[in-house]
Amino acid sequence: MNTYSNILGLIGNTPLVRINNITEQLGIKAQIYAKMESLNPGYSVKDRIGISMINDAEEKGILKPGGTLIEATSGNTGIGMALVAAVRGYKCVFVMTDKVSVEKRRYLKAMGADVVICSAAAKYGSPDHYVSTAKRIAEETPNSFYPDQYNHPANPLAHYRTTGPEIWRDTDGKITHFVSSIGTGGTISGTSRYLKEKNPDIKIIGADPYGSIFKQYKETGQMPEATPYLVEGIGQNIAVGNADVKIVDEIINITDRESFEMSRQLGKHEGIFCGGSTGTIFAGALKVAKNLDENAVVVFIVCDTGEHYLTKHHSDEWMKEKLLLEPQKITAGLINETKNSGSPAELISVAPDEIVGVALKIMTETGVTQIPVLENNVSVGSLRESRILTKLLEDRELLNAKVSEIMEEGFPIVDVDAHSNEIKAQLQKSPAVLIEDFKRITGIITRSDVLDLPK
Ligand SMILES: Cc1ncc(COP(=O)(O)O)c(C=O)c1O
Repeated sequence: MNTYSNILGLIGNTPLVRINNITEQLGIKAQIYAKMESLNPGYSVKDRIGISMINDAEEKGILKPGGTLIEATSGNTGIGMALVAAVRGYKCVFVMTDKVSVEKRRYLKAMGADVVICSAAAKYGSPDHYVSTAKRIAEETPNSFYPDQYNHPANPLAHYRTTGPEIWRDTDGKITHFVSSIGTGGTISGTSRYLKEKNPDIKIIGADPYGSIFKQYKETGQMPEATPYLVEGIGQNIAVGNADVKIVDEIINITDRESFEMSRQLGKHEGIFCGGSTGTIFAGALKVAKNLDENAVVVFIVCDTGEHYLTKHHSDEWMKEKLLLEPQKITAGLINETKNSGSPAELISVAPDEIVGVALKIMTETGVTQIPVLENNVSVGSLRESRILTKLLEDRELLNAKVSEIMEEGFPIVDVDAHSNEIKAQLQKSPAVLIEDFKRITGIITRSDVLDLPK
């Protein structure tokens, strides 16, 4: 039978996949290959170190049957360790910050782990920092193993023994550039050490978020004050033992906006659905590759799957909230779904044969000052509170009239995919616009809904 004895046999030996459409569009001649670490059984590059650190502890007798694994993680190392724990019967406690996506937290819980969340704002070294918390829990838990992925030699060693040789083998030794991120540094340090031993001319490029220390630390030896960024799992605010910046030839800073945009593009144009750190790395790979010829072979790491970030950068709503979505991608539908101007989420409308008094009551109760008049989901007119009240001052009997007798022209209609500039232009002329989706009116946007949109 062609079988595996357990899930752990699926870790590693991930394929290299050529990038085609994006490089062609950008006129890049170099060959760029994605190392598909998202195809590991825990969907990330960190599966390799989970098993490597645990094997090491078992061999040294540090970890005994029935023990508890405890680690500070941005999620993926936890998932890698939880796989081993499930197969070998260990308990797990993972300590993470509140920056980590809800998907990764739930994933770990679904694998049977206990998850402890700390504030991402806690200072390194303070008792409530996630690393200090993990250490304390490990000290208080009998028969526990706290690997400390930031300093454990089995982390880079896993990549020296597996990731590096796989890339060398699968490119027939033709790799010229290796691009990775730096979180614990295990991936870049271990893989690069192997590759440089094979061919010292291979260039190693680290892609790091603006706000992280690594670029300045490598170039000046100084550690700047780190500033917050949104990409998960990479960059640091302190130097860590496993990040060997000397082996890295160049570190390129990448913005959150570029990281998320490139991650989204890999899904849309190459079918590679990945996390934000992969976007950071791919943005770095493209910057390097644009100056290279067709003989260059650039390999970059696809760190993890996009499924971990469906409520984060793969959500237009989240991107809009973080002011990271390009204005042309802010559509009428998105504005309607994410409006926080206090207007009701449901579309409030009246029928043309409704009584004016009832329409006025609906407007007062729902707090809207203008309302579309719809018949079978088609716009036939509109009512504005101020106009109705002016008319009622002249003739109070109108309260009992039908809406169709006093309604004004309907609000302008835009398609659900119309973008923010078109909507803003319409709102110069009209107090509201209606949204049409497959010939049905599905929403309304008023001036206050577009006040906070980027230009
Ligand atoms: C999503 C993601 N990308 C990249 C990395 C970086 O890998 P390394 O720790 O080997 O530097 C991590 C590490 O946790 C991660 O979670």
